[in-house]
Amino acid sequence: MGLWYYRLRESVGWLNFSKVQTEKSLNHSLYTVTAVEDHQTVGMGRLIGDGLYYVIVDVVVHPAFQGMGIGGKIVDMMIAYVDRETPCEARSSVQLIAEKGKETFYEKRGFKRIPHDFCGSGMRKVILKKK
Ligand SMILES: CC(C)(COP(=O)(O)OP(=O)(O)OC[C@H]1O[C@@H](n2cnc3c(N)ncnc32)[C@H](O)[C@@H]1OP(=O)(O)O)[C@@H](O)C(=O)NCCC(=O)NCCS
Repeated sequence: MGLWYYRLRESVGWLNFSKVQTEKSLNHSLYTVTAVEDHQTVGMGRLIGDGLYYVIVDVVVHPAFQGMGIGGKIVDMMIAYVDRETPCEARSSVQLIAEKGKETFYEKRGFKRIPHDFCGSGMRKVILKKK
């Protein structure tokens, strides 16, 4: 299971996580979008979250299929999902960490760089566990 996921990450030079973590996380996505061409998964994006806060992760288009509008469509579909799930008169927050140099790709879809006037920097911590 998840072979397409490992392959797509590898195609853009991203390290994979362990098999156990990957299976668990794929099963816990709120919404997964894949682009399939000739029975091969050539693009993906996953939305995780709890209904108030959402995080977009794993947005990848295989290099041979980049620049054809696939990545943009995948992000649009995830935004549309959150829009559908957000009640009238309510709000949801969609967050992500852009790869260096990919900020414009997301700005075109309405994301704002942080920090800005109302938010400090995004922050993260990686837990690396040794034996
Ligand atoms: C980033 C990525 C998902 C874009 O997918 P794609 O299918 O090539 O993108 P699209 O063809 O849908 O382009 C959508 C728009 O973003 C723009 N865009 C695409 N890649 C961009 C980049 N690297 N920098 C700035 N803008 C970019 C396009 O010009 C296009 O603009 P338009 O809608 O005005 O024409 C893809 O290049 C990729 O998988 N890269 C490696 C993994 C990665 O960095 N993922 C993002 C994680 S944050």
